[in-house]
Amino acid sequence: MEKKTTVISAQQLNRQMSFCGQIRAYWEEKGVQPLAFVDTYGCQQNEADSERIRGMLERAGYGFTDTEEGADVIVLNTCAIREHAEQRVFGNVGALVHTKRRHEGQKIFLCGCMMGQIKVSDRIKHSYPHVDGVFSTHHLWEFPELLYRVLKTGKRVFAVADEPGSICENIPVSRTNSLKAWVSVMYGCNNFCSYCIVPYVRGRERSRQPEEILKECKELIALGYKEITLLGQNVNSYGKDLDCGVDFADLMARIASLDGDFRLRFMTSHPKDASFKLFDTIAKYPKICKQFHLPFQSGNDRVLKVMNRRYTAGQYLRLVEYGRSLMPELVLTSDVIVGFPGETEEEFEDTLKLIETVGYDALFTFIFSPRGGTPAASMDDPVTKAEKNARFDRLVRLQNRISEEKHRAYIGSVQKVLVDGRDGDFLTARTDGGRLVRFPGEDSLIGQFINVRITDCTTWSLVGEKA
Ligand code: SAH
Ligand code: SF4
Ligand code: F3S
Repeated sequence: MEKKTTVISAQQLNRQMSFCGQIRAYWEEKGVQPLAFVDTYGCQQNEADSERIRGMLERAGYGFTDTEEGADVIVLNTCAIREHAEQRVFGNVGALVHTKRRHEGQKIFLCGCMMGQIKVSDRIKHSYPHVDGVFSTHHLWEFPELLYRVLKTGKRVFAVADEPGSICENIPVSRTNSLKAWVSVMYGCNNFCSYCIVPYVRGRERSRQPEEILKECKELIALGYKEITLLGQNVNSYGKDLDCGVDFADLMARIASLDGDFRLRFMTSHPKDASFKLFDTIAKYPKICKQFHLPFQSGNDRVLKVMNRRYTAGQYLRLVEYGRSLMPELVLTSDVIVGFPGETEEEFEDTLKLIETVGYDALFTFIFSPRGGTPAASMDDPVTKAEKNARFDRLVRLQNRISEEKHRAYIGSVQKVLVDGRDGDFLTARTDGGRLVRFPGEDSLIGQFINVRITDCTTWSLVGEKA
């Protein structure tokens, strides 16, 4: 396995920042305040990348708009995880032909995970000539140069060379939320679960230096951020490539020991690497939320093996038991795939059993979607679409019942929540475990941790009043 990580030097980044300066001058000469529209598909990793794309655009003098119409540059940050996600992007890109006709000089860029597949960038090259630039996640830090080249020459650019991946610190960032911040601790994935495209499009696992992460967290806390979510495809692998003696639990402990009024979350954890030490750390530090997102994917050992997940249902359940023995209040959420190739009725029922046994607070449920180039895409898949849909519905019904039971158990309790916004007549807030709470109150509470008494619930949220 390739271990060497390319670190982008300060000099290389400075060169990119000088392109931001040149783009700014380009627009100043025209006497125009340029506008950008950045649209994000997919997971938090992409959200975090988009905040850097916005940061670079801001540095280049762009303001932001929330529609394609009239934007001087459009950036679609795409997701490849399921076919449906890709189809949405192709549909939206197709429609941009007309938007571009209505706004002379509009430039269109596509980036993100979809663009890490050569067949996709080739299709864009040949069938979508109105797209001006394409770059994969490995080339994100070079966006200023790509944009400058397109503006100056009018020629299309494609930065899609396959690489194991790099780390670039100090890219400017424009965060979309002033309370909650994403902090990537590592990039890429080495796991190659047989159904998953991520390792192919995001490259090998590489960890940021702990000092860089701590520095970013300290800055966020000083700026008044109340919630930090550490991101990685498999955060438990953090540090393995650094040989610096800091694993993910150590990193969390260091961040949770920083002064300030904030809480700490993380996503996502792979069961094969989730350690008892990590649970011990979560239990020990009050600032670490008592929530664990631990994807299980299937409750059947044969399916787990073909998925290349490298744990059994029994091993998974032991982790959950340990976590709950330390923290009875631990909120557990997970991802599950229905209709993996060859999954039988009995194997699917093992998944239902595992869900009953664990009693998740919430589940993210997906129907298997074949991804070209992954081993699962060429496996025999005799189960019909209709049967898969029926299994999916059964699973969702079961989970809805459990979620509602879990929520009902909150009624009468007092929860410390972070108030994060307003939805109509109600303020919205999140418990330590990440459950949504709606309650009446003044806007002045937004941004504060307060106690709320839970009075009612639905399948998806809790209802309460200020305690
Ligand atoms: N790295 C994370 C998951 C990232 S993808 C982890 O391993 O926990 C988020 C979820 O999408 C996965 O957990 C899986 O449930 C789902 N997923 C990934 N590839 C899929 C595919 N080909 N079809 C259906 N669901 C998929
Ligand atoms: Fe995909 Fe598996 Fe890596 Fe998660 S751990 S990103 S599911 S390959
Ligand atoms: Fe999608 Fe890439 Fe995330 S494929 S789910 S945006 S890592």
